[in-house]
Amino acid sequence: MTLLAVEDLHTYYGEAHILQGVSITVGEGEVVTLIGRNGAGKTTTLRSIMGVARPRRGRVAFRGEDVTGLGPHEIARRGIAWVPEERRVLPNLTVLENLRLGALGAGRDNGAASFDDVLAFFPRLRERIAQKGRFLSGGEQQMLAIARGLVARPRLMLVDEPTEGLAPLLVENLTGILGEISRRGTTILLVEQTLEVAMTLSHRLYVMDQGRIQFEGTPEALRREPAIQQRFLGV
Ligand SMILES: Nc1ncnc2c1ncn2[C@@H]1O[C@H](COP(=O)(O)OP(=O)(O)OP(=O)(O)O)[C@@H](O)[C@H]1O
Ligand SMILES: [Mg+2]
Repeated sequence: MTLLAVEDLHTYYGEAHILQGVSITVGEGEVVTLIGRNGAGKTTTLRSIMGVARPRRGRVAFRGEDVTGLGPHEIARRGIAWVPEERRVLPNLTVLENLRLGALGAGRDNGAASFDDVLAFFPRLRERIAQKGRFLSGGEQQMLAIARGLVARPRLMLVDEPTEGLAPLLVENLTGILGEISRRGTTILLVEQTLEVAMTLSHRLYVMDQGRIQFEGTPEALRREPAIQQRFLGV
């Protein structure tokens, strides 16, 4: 079943025409990745889905319902969680308090929530549950940002460049965790710049450049297209 259908989105920042007719779909249970260079429009696509940026043209449908034009709070309430590029971990709150905030935002905190099922993905965070955000490493902050999205029990999670700035071992670790989250039933729309991470995790990929989708297909199909990889991803 198609969970998310984005059709012909045109989004502007002022007069700058950033998204020039972006169409993507995400099926239930899939990991779909948007990949492309800096400035391609990946984050703008996620912002347009969340209702943070307002598309001038096009349509966003979630679970068959037209949600175009709804604000971020409404979109979140319908079951989409957004883990933004900037991890936005609150430095003076503990790991547990940061998680509570994520649950509260989605109306899911009953005060007694232990988040055990979410923390099962992140043993390192569980160890540091009482630690303040500012004492976490970059990798731990990224894990907390993802965990905070998960406590909202989303049907779809948008994750923007989770591996950016992380050391190779952590990238590998996080890739494993995202794969596990997917296998346990959360659908993921991922933004990535690391081709290998995208290839490992995705069922399908969209290559984006200059506000347009330039290629869509499976990782195997993209492997057979060195010219596309070279032209749009510079690899
Ligand atoms: N708030 C803004 N106001 C004006 N222009 C913006 C704004 N945010 C982004 N842009 C421009 O829109 C284009 C797309 O940006 P976007 O952030 O969507 O790219 P991206 O693919 O996420 O890049 P990155 O990989 O660097 O995160 C870029 O040219 C960028 O300079
Ligand atoms: Mg971005």
